[in-house]
Amino acid sequence: MGEYHIIGGRRLSGELAVHGSKNAILPILAACVLNAGENCLTNCPNISDTRYTIDILKEIGCTVKHEGDTITVNSAMANEFEISEKLVRKMRSSIIFLGSLLARFGAAKISYPGGCVLGLRPIDQHLKGLRQLGAQIEDEDGFLNCTAKRLVGADISLDFPSVGATENIMLAATLADGTTTITNAAREPEIVDLAMFLNSKGADITDAGEATIKIRGVAKLHDAEHRIMPDRIVAGTYLTAAAMTKGDITLINVSSDNISPVIAKLTEAGCIISTKGNHIHLVAPPKLRAIQLKTAPHPGFPTDLQPQFTAMLSVADGISIVEETVFEARNKHIYELSRMGANILQVNNNRTSIIEGMPHLTGNNVISHDLRGGAALILAGLAADGKTIVSPSDHVVRGYESIEVDLRSLGANIVYAN
Ligand code: UD1
Repeated sequence: MGEYHIIGGRRLSGELAVHGSKNAILPILAACVLNAGENCLTNCPNISDTRYTIDILKEIGCTVKHEGDTITVNSAMANEFEISEKLVRKMRSSIIFLGSLLARFGAAKISYPGGCVLGLRPIDQHLKGLRQLGAQIEDEDGFLNCTAKRLVGADISLDFPSVGATENIMLAATLADGTTTITNAAREPEIVDLAMFLNSKGADITDAGEATIKIRGVAKLHDAEHRIMPDRIVAGTYLTAAAMTKGDITLINVSSDNISPVIAKLTEAGCIISTKGNHIHLVAPPKLRAIQLKTAPHPGFPTDLQPQFTAMLSVADGISIVEETVFEARNKHIYELSRMGANILQVNNNRTSIIEGMPHLTGNNVISHDLRGGAALILAGLAADGKTIVSPSDHVVRGYESIEVDLRSLGANIVYAN
């Protein structure tokens, strides 16, 4: 367990390339199991969630080569359809293997991923969709036992546009007999990246990124190469860091279209943002303005940037209101921010934060309870007076590749200590 030591007060400036997307690579690695062959992925983020996913691939019999930002998965000899409890515990999103294991082997066994720090996080929509495609799913002693002699296309309507459920259904439906339609599907850019990879393998998926996705099942898939899309949440985190340190930064390897709701809110807060090709340039104002925001499924404001924005608005001028509508318990960072001097009142079952911007935050020892909450505390440390220690680092390294190195390259005073 490491920790981050930060001396605040440095203005971020300079240029930084953003790494590949965590939320895109996980389902794409699961998709590598769909054909018994070799797939090559580039621009892969070197984060612990990628490494856990590689451990799962190895457990089911794949050979994986990981060199720099390139990962080659050979699934020709894959022969296991069970993922051990140990790995599911490490990474809740292991559930994304259900669809691809079912499609490849007609069976999948995964321990039931329980609740997590963001709330209950049920998987009913995943199971509903897979059952509609013909899977039998039993819950035995905490394990999900799934079998399907044959998957058959179906019309599936999700109660909520769940990202993981949309991906699991896409993975299973790709090799099903007939056509599957997902209505009220998630529209996140990572869904589009998954569809691009699957289509490059010979799948027939149309309208990914729209609320209704059509998947015409194909008999088999072939090998492919794919470049993972840039991580829009990492990009948003660094833009927010610059905004709250009166910074001036340029990010490279970003798609501005994918973060337009974030750009809109940073602009409302007083930042000047310009985009060109895959570059985004942000100049922060001397004093940020208070704003109101509400998280929502894409193209709404991403819940994965809510904690970082809450940290930023703690030093804005005026009273901001932040409403979390996606996860019921994404607020553990708020107590920690308060320990740094933030003035945040939570109402509406802790789903709404009323934030009175303070002239300064003060460094303190704070605890990172989850990935994005940990990033928010690092940002608060960058803007605070004095020294902040954020620990443990385990959550942050799940989604940021050497965040301390990136931030140091922009002039921050931050080190990782073991
Ligand atoms: C993905 C992202 C995560 C992001 C989230 C929302 C990955 C690996 N993770 O998570 O970073 O915060 O999307 O953008 O891509 N729900 C149900 N039943 C279900 C599934 C979900 O009720 O079967 C609820 C969840 O409890 C939650 C909401 O729907 O309140 C959103 O979940 P979902 O979109 O599924 O998020 P994940 O795929 O888990």
